[in-house]
Order: sequence, then structure tokens, then C-alpha cells
Amino acid sequence: MKIQWSLPNIQKQDIQGLEKVLRSGWYSMGPEVQKFEEKVAFYLNIKYGIGVNNGTAALDIALKCLDIKKGDEVIIPALTYISTGNAILYNNATPVFVDVNNTLNIDTSLIEEKITDKTRVIMNIDFGGNPSNYKELLKISKKHNIFLLVDGAQSFGSEYCGIKCCTHGLINTTSFHSAKILTTIEGGMIFTKDKDIFLKARSIRNQGETSKYIHQYLGNNYRMTDIAAAIGNSQLKRIKETLKQRKKKIKYYKENLKNVEYPKELPNTINSNFFFLILVKNRNKLNKYLNDNGIETRITYPMPINEQPIFVKYSKETFPVSKEISRQIISLPIHYKLSTLQQDYIIKIINKFTGGMTY
Ligand SMILES: Cc1ncc(COP(=O)(O)O)c(C=O)c1O
Repeated sequence: MKIQWSLPNIQKQDIQGLEKVLRSGWYSMGPEVQKFEEKVAFYLNIKYGIGVNNGTAALDIALKCLDIKKGDEVIIPALTYISTGNAILYNNATPVFVDVNNTLNIDTSLIEEKITDKTRVIMNIDFGGNPSNYKELLKISKKHNIFLLVDGAQSFGSEYCGIKCCTHGLINTTSFHSAKILTTIEGGMIFTKDKDIFLKARSIRNQGETSKYIHQYLGNNYRMTDIAAAIGNSQLKRIKETLKQRKKKIKYYKENLKNVEYPKELPNTINSNFFFLILVKNRNKLNKYLNDNGIETRITYPMPINEQPIFVKYSKETFPVSKEISRQIISLPIHYKLSTLQQDYIIKIINKFTGGMTY
């Protein structure tokens, strides 16, 4: 048996939507993109959505909208995907790392000691879809007059206190990469309530153009194609069902797995579980055992971001919680085609390893 870690949920109707675009003669920044921006923004209950070609581009645009430049400091959690940090470097700014807590999200009690007169932004992620403490993050950003930028690449479909994730910041982004819960294969979006930011982000996405062939900002080609947007529009129609099915699978895992830990979740939150994560002490052995038995996994992530070769020069600190989590974490298969039979097999393999054998 070979079980994939992730599988994009592409259905017949997605392909029909694609065919319509291909026959229409308008392939980029056209009506499908506009519809997708409006529909996603409506789903999240936020005023503006700006479609782009990936989640990393969305972060770069977000920082450019805030005029982040050399000498500025941007606070990020020590446990995140590389893009969060890279976007800071694209803008010649300095990343400042803060350790996470047992939710795997930034430990808000450690942020204020990192704030200096150069701090401009807190760029936060919701690890694996698990919502962060936005009450505290908003309080800190307001108190110190620092922007809150939400990198919601992993938390599309999650909620914090009844409010959808990817909306709590002044600027928010997400990713629609093929492993994501809602995919356009490659794609991303920026969300904001602020009209000026909306206009600037839209312009930076398209070479900084403000009117035809007049370029006010340093932009880039970060345009979304109608082909990507058509897949997204079709997928968005079934997002509630997608999340419901995913929730059922997570529940089944949690009811049956023995002797594993999970990231803690805050009350009043909904975790879309972009990643289904377990924490185990002898992770490398279990991971090998799973892989040897045909089960694909991901180690998300093998080290805190400050230990990545390109980031080591920015900090001499160690972040003990992030480090320990990166030693214990495994991301298990979770996708629309994962059957109960396959879940039973994964559960059996893990329980055998952890000594929680149930058969
Ligand atoms: C936290 C985080 N930020 C940014 C990104 C970048 O998104 P993309 O792969 O669409 O560029 C990802 C991708 O998974 C991510 O996990």
C-alpha cells in the first residue's frame, strides 16, 4: 500500500471550468480572477481580495504595501515555512524571531521584549491551520503602533472566535498551492479592509502600474491567471463540504491513535488542519517506519527558521520550544481521497510503534 501525504481535490467540474476559460480567449487578470477575488473575500467576510500567482508573492506585496525597507525589523515566529522569512529578505529588512508555544504558534508573551524602535511589523502564521492568539496579537500591535500582517498560507478555512482566519491583520495573505485545502495549483491572495492598501497591492502585483504604462511603485509580475482562478472558483463552491470531510478524518485519527501528542488549540477556534500533526519523542524512527510501510509523511519543519543556512546570520539565539517541536513533529496524510481503510492502516502502524496496539 502506498499512501500519499497530500492530493489536490480536482473534480470533473473543475476541469469543465478550465475548459471554459481556455475556450474564452482571456487567460490572465480577466473575469475569472475578478470573480475569484470577490467570492473569496465574501467567504472570508473581508472587503478586498487581490489574486496573485503564489503565497510568497502575496507576502512580498504585503511588505511593499507597508513600505518595509532596509533597517526595518519584522517579527516572525521561529517555527514557520521559509517563505515567511524570505519575504522579509526580498525587502532588505531584518527578521526578528520569537519562540512558539505548545500551540506551535508565536508565544505572544515573548513578543514585547523583541520590540525596538525599528520594529515595523509582526508577521504571524497559524501553524498547520491552528489559529493564533489574535486577541493578544492585536493588543500588542495597537499598543506599540506596529502593523499586524497575517501570513495565512496555512489557515484558510480556520476561525478564531467566530472570525475567519486570514482577516485579522491590516494585511493578510494566503496560498492556494496544490497541497492547500483550496487550490488553484499555484496561487495566492491578499486580503484587506483598507482601500489604499487594496489599490497599492493591486498595482504592485502588476509591475507597479497605476495607469496604463505609468509605474508608480516597484512592482513585479505577480499576476494570477484566469486558468488558476477558474479552478479556485470551482473549488470554492464545495469548500464547506471539503472542510467537513477533513474534520471527520481528523476526528477518526484522534479517536484511534494512541500515545501521541497533538499541538494544543485555543478555545473558540476552528482548525482547518491544513496539516494533521502529531508529536512523538522518537520521531525519526517512527517517520522511517511509516515511510518503510508505504506511508508518505512530511517533517514540517526539520528546524526553526533561524537555523536555516540563509537565516543563521540574523540571530544567535536558540528557541527551545521551536527546536523541540521540530524534533518531534510529523505531518500525516490528510486529503479528500484518504479512505477509512487507509486511515486504519496508518493508525495500526503508528499504534504498533507507540505501543498502543489496538488490534
Ligand atoms: C506559512 C507559509 N507562508 C507562505 C507560504 C508560501 O506560499 P506559496 O507556496 O503559495 O508561495 C507557505 C506555503 O506553504 C506557507 O506555509
